[in-house]
Amino acid sequence: MGKNIKIFDTTLRDGEQSPGCSMNLQEKIKVAKQLELLKVDVIEAGFAIASQGDFNSVKEVAQIIKNSTVASLARALPKDIDYAWEAVKYAVRPRIHTFIATSDIHMKHKLKMKPEEVIERAVAMVKYAKKYCEDIEFSAEDGTRSDPKFLAQIYEKVIEAGATVINIPDTVGYTTPEEYYEFITKIKENTSNIHKAEISVHCHNDLGLAVANTLAAAKAGATQFECTINGIGERAGNAALEEIVMAINTRKDVLGLECNIDTTQIMRSSRLLSTITGVQVQPNKAIVGANAFAHESGIHQHGVLEERSTYEIMTPESIGLTTNKMVLGKHSGRHAFNERLKSLGYNLSDEDLSKAFKQFKDLADKKKVVYNRDIEAIVSEEIIEIPQTYK
Ligand code: KIV
Ligand code: ZN
Repeated sequence: MGKNIKIFDTTLRDGEQSPGCSMNLQEKIKVAKQLELLKVDVIEAGFAIASQGDFNSVKEVAQIIKNSTVASLARALPKDIDYAWEAVKYAVRPRIHTFIATSDIHMKHKLKMKPEEVIERAVAMVKYAKKYCEDIEFSAEDGTRSDPKFLAQIYEKVIEAGATVINIPDTVGYTTPEEYYEFITKIKENTSNIHKAEISVHCHNDLGLAVANTLAAAKAGATQFECTINGIGERAGNAALEEIVMAINTRKDVLGLECNIDTTQIMRSSRLLSTITGVQVQPNKAIVGANAFAHESGIHQHGVLEERSTYEIMTPESIGLTTNKMVLGKHSGRHAFNERLKSLGYNLSDEDLSKAFKQFKDLADKKKVVYNRDIEAIVSEEIIEIPQTYK
């Protein structure tokens, strides 16, 4: 048994902040229902005060979703918290997620507040939110660029005030796995009541390290991972849910973690989001990219046709695909070509196969991918004797 990790999905909030990814009410409801099928532990449904549309969608999601906690984001301001509560109060398990920035850069230039004032506000707002709701998450925005001793002070006080989850965000995707591990360890050492709250992490992908950082945080004691489908989110995005979850499942041996996600719903979730937003994932994207379970080179195709585990560390079925994909191109070999012919109903003699394979290689040199229709054309033109009158 591994350590259980809660998956907090913020596709509908941080993900939606990604350029070109905004969604209307009906679209958000569809995504939320799919997230429930995926069995995420927490759905952050939006930022209730951001707009009337956001408020309505958080409220609808809260009313519809039965099996996941539903959260709304709120700045550390009474009005934000009032809106958040008005929207999430219908949920079976509501959560208010309040945040304030804690780095010197943010406190000085954005908030124009002194560190003591930030602590005071955070504590007051957690207490304020606690009047409404038992489950309160507190996030220290730009956490990884904050002084860890200062963070320990603020976390200690918000936990005392009733925060049930404390989040340590890498808001600008700046940290590295080792550093993040040490940073969280230091915070834990200096926060005497940390055992009373759940530690959450929220990583952005500016340096392409979001998933690695998230996984490193588990070693330091984090038990809630914040992420989005397809890794959408501000700038370079958030840690991708599908990558985190498949790493947890595939490398249980080294990570020692487990989660409640139904991985067979991953592909469906990814495609639903792409269809709704119109933002496609890159072909080589881990887990959900079009090439993630595709093989082109002869050596790889031969290996996979003999024994899938030669080049597949997880099965396509485990993420909800029906099969892997053999792409026929100039790197493909005779074995894969013959398998494709058989799947198309052609059983060629050795001699015909050699003829067809040569035609295929000539064509593959001119085209990036050789499709079934090309193969059928090769066979019908070059191999099967068709009476002249029909040509
Ligand atoms: O990136 C971030 O710091 C956030 C917080 C609001 C959690 O999205
Ligand atoms: Zn974020």
